[in-house]
Amino acid sequence: MTPAEPAKAKIVYVVGARPNFVKMAPVVAALRARLPEAAHVIVHTGQHYDKAMSDVFVDQLGMPQPDHLLGVGSGTHAQQTARVMERLEPILEEERPDLVIVPGDVNSTLAASLVAAKLRLPTAHLEAGLRSFDRSMPEEINRIVADEFADLLLAHSDEALENLAREGIEASRVHLVGNTMIDALVACETRFRSLDVAASMGLEPGGYVLVTLHRPALVDGPLLGSVMDELERLSETAPVVFPVHPRTRVRLDGRATGGRVILLDPIGYLEFLSLEADAGAVLTDSGGVQEETSYLGVPCFTLRDSTERPVTVRLGTNTMLGLDPAAIRHVSLLRRPAERPHITAWDGRAAERVADVVADYLASHT
Ligand code: UD1
Ligand code: UDP
Repeated sequence: MTPAEPAKAKIVYVVGARPNFVKMAPVVAALRARLPEAAHVIVHTGQHYDKAMSDVFVDQLGMPQPDHLLGVGSGTHAQQTARVMERLEPILEEERPDLVIVPGDVNSTLAASLVAAKLRLPTAHLEAGLRSFDRSMPEEINRIVADEFADLLLAHSDEALENLAREGIEASRVHLVGNTMIDALVACETRFRSLDVAASMGLEPGGYVLVTLHRPALVDGPLLGSVMDELERLSETAPVVFPVHPRTRVRLDGRATGGRVILLDPIGYLEFLSLEADAGAVLTDSGGVQEETSYLGVPCFTLRDSTERPVTVRLGTNTMLGLDPAAIRHVSLLRRPAERPHITAWDGRAAERVADVVADYLASHT
C-alpha cells in the first residue's frame, strides 16, 4: 500500500565530495518523484570544489543546483569538520527539516550527522553498515558515527546488515535498500557506452589499465614515488590511463612520467565510466570504483590493506593487493567473467527502495 503523502514534509540532502553526488543523485530524483509536494533542499558543503570534482557531477547526473553552498574547502580533518558544523547548524535551524539524508563516509557526512543529532533532527544514513575494521582510515570513523546517530540506516548490502547486527544496532532502524551508486551507473549506461572515450584516445578496448589513487596512506607519504615507478613498468605491458585526484596531483608535484603512462586531470563521470567499462583492468584504492567494476564485470586490483566492500572480493572481480607498490606487478589483463556478477540489491532500483522507506517514515512521523 502506498503510504499517505506527507505533503508538507521537508527533506535536506547533504553532499560535499565527488562520490556523494553519485550516491545522492538517484535518491533526490526518486524522492522528488515520490513526494512532489514536499520540499527538497540540497546543501553542498564545498568539501570538493573544483569543477571536475563537483559541478560536472551535478550537471551530468541531472541533480538540481544546491540551495545552500557552505564553501568549506580543504583543511585538516578537524578544520573541515568544524567548518561544516558551524555553517550547517544555522541552516538546519532555519530549515527545520523532517529528515536529513547524509551519504557515505566523508568528513561532510560526519559533520552533518553530528549537527543533526545535536539539533535532534531525524537523520538517514545512505550506504549504512560498511566496515573496513581499520580505524586508521578516517572514513571508518565517519561511517561508525553516521550509523550510530541515524534514525534510518539505509543499508548497502547483506554484509552491511551483518555488520550492523553485530554492533547491536536495533533492526527496526535498519533497511536493506542496496547501492545507489549502481543506480547512477545504470541510469547513465546508454550515455556512457556511446562515448567511446578509449577509442577517441587511440586505446584499444580491453587493452589498457585504468588507475585511480587518492588514499592518504598511499599518496601522502613515500610510497607514491614507487607507485609511479611501478606504473611506468606496467605500461610496458599495456598503456596506463591515470586521471589524477587533486590530493595526488599536489603530491606528484610536477613529477614527469615515462613509459606509456597517461596522466589526466580528474575526468567527468560519464567519461570515467566509459573508460572503466572498456578497461582491461582497473587499479584503484577507491571505494566506489571497486563497486562499479564489480557491477560491470571488469577485473579490479585494489592497492589497499583492507576493504569495506568485501563482497567485491568474494565475487572474484576484485583482488586485494595490499599497500606495497611492488604488488602492482600482479596487475594483468584478465579475461572477464562471461556474465556480470549479481549482488543482492545492486540492481539499479535502490533509490526507489530508499523512497519507500523515507515516505513510510515521514508518513508516520510528520
Ligand atoms: C575525500 C574523502 C574520501 C573520499 C574522497 C573522494 C574524507 C576524510 N575523505 O578525500 O573518503 O574517498 O574525498 O574523492 O572526507 N582538493 C582540490 N580540489 C578539490 C578538492 C580537494 O584541490 O575540489 C585537494 C586539496 O589539496 C585537499 C586535498 O585535495 O587538501 C584533499 O581533499 P579532501 O576533501 O580533504 O580529501 P580527499 O582526499 O578528497
Ligand atoms: N570518478 C570520476 N572521475 C574520475 C575518477 C572517479 O567520475 O576521474 C567517479 C567514479 O566513477 C565513482 C566515483 O568517482 O563513481 C568514486 O569517487 P572517489 O574514488 O573519489 O571516492 P571513493 O568512492 O573512494 O570514496
